[in-house]
Amino acid sequence: MILLTGITGNNGGATANALLEKGVQFRALVRDLNKARDWSAKGVELVKGDLEDPESVKAALQGVDRAVLILPNGEDQQRLELSFIETARQAGLAWILKLSSPEAIRGTTSPIPLAHIAAEDAIMASGMNWTFVRPSFFMQNFRSSPAACKASGKLSMPMGNGTVALTDCADAGAFIAHVLTDDNPARHYGQCYNITGPDPVMDFNDIAKIIGEVIGQNVEYDDCDPHAFQEAIRPFHRNDWHSDAVARLFAEIASGETPGVKTNTFQEMMGRPGTSLKEYLTKIA
Ligand SMILES: NC(=O)c1ccc[n+]([C@@H]2O[C@H](COP(=O)([O-])OP(=O)(O)OC[C@H]3O[C@@H](n4cnc5c(N)ncnc54)[C@H](OP(=O)(O)O)[C@@H]3O)[C@@H](O)[C@H]2O)c1
Repeated sequence: MILLTGITGNNGGATANALLEKGVQFRALVRDLNKARDWSAKGVELVKGDLEDPESVKAALQGVDRAVLILPNGEDQQRLELSFIETARQAGLAWILKLSSPEAIRGTTSPIPLAHIAAEDAIMASGMNWTFVRPSFFMQNFRSSPAACKASGKLSMPMGNGTVALTDCADAGAFIAHVLTDDNPARHYGQCYNITGPDPVMDFNDIAKIIGEVIGQNVEYDDCDPHAFQEAIRPFHRNDWHSDAVARLFAEIASGETPGVKTNTFQEMMGRPGTSLKEYLTKIA
């Protein structure tokens, strides 16, 4: 039995859709059964639980041999992931798959990648079989850009001359489902998969151009002031910790410290290319 966390979010939802398409039965731990009721209607076994409550995690893990750990960024992400890992270890879980980030590189001082590194270290030390899936910068980060660019003609982000490789969360979910349901799971044990879509590494002029092509009007990249940008997006973040942590990540991209690396891993494993940014934006337009 598979246990999925994060089904009401981007990547957990995408993983669930891909598992359902494959006809695979699985269980999902959710904090709010009502919020997840559409999944129940699709035949997903829902278990009420919260990573804040190890007893609920322990109950959800009964009869489970594979679990997917997905949590949002936050000051509690590291603590909650370490708690889940310890509960899973004690429960004798055979295989844990964690959604991580390619920025989880030793030497970083950024809080989000540091939390991923701590969780990856705990998983590797746990004795459980493990797989890390590390998608690059999500295309979903641009989900509101077409409307905003239509209004202003500008893609305003404080990214300097920084570059990124991009992944559609739907591809990340399809990839996780593919790995989880492989007839030969052992070939994924101890693997760290950095995945991206098919686009080359792009700067934000390139991205503005693609948005412009999709919305049918010229879009210029506006390398805006980081502090003004942070204040503008603060209301959309969970709290100040989240807002500051995202600003740190963006500053690292702008400075060229994390230039993004395109990989062929998705294409090689899935036998098809991932979704390009243009395809993603066209899909959501
Ligand atoms: N942004 C990027 O470009 C990027 C790139 C690579 C990797 N990542 C990583 O992707 C991860 C976020 O994935 P996502 O975008 O799929 O997240 P998301 O859409 O924010 O979804 C988070 C999920 O976690 C659940 N959750 C939150 N707190 C919980 C708790 N205490 N107990 C149980 N479930 C809980 C949420 O449930 P509720 O509905 O109950 O809130 C929701 O289902 C982060 O770790 C991030 O570092 C991000």
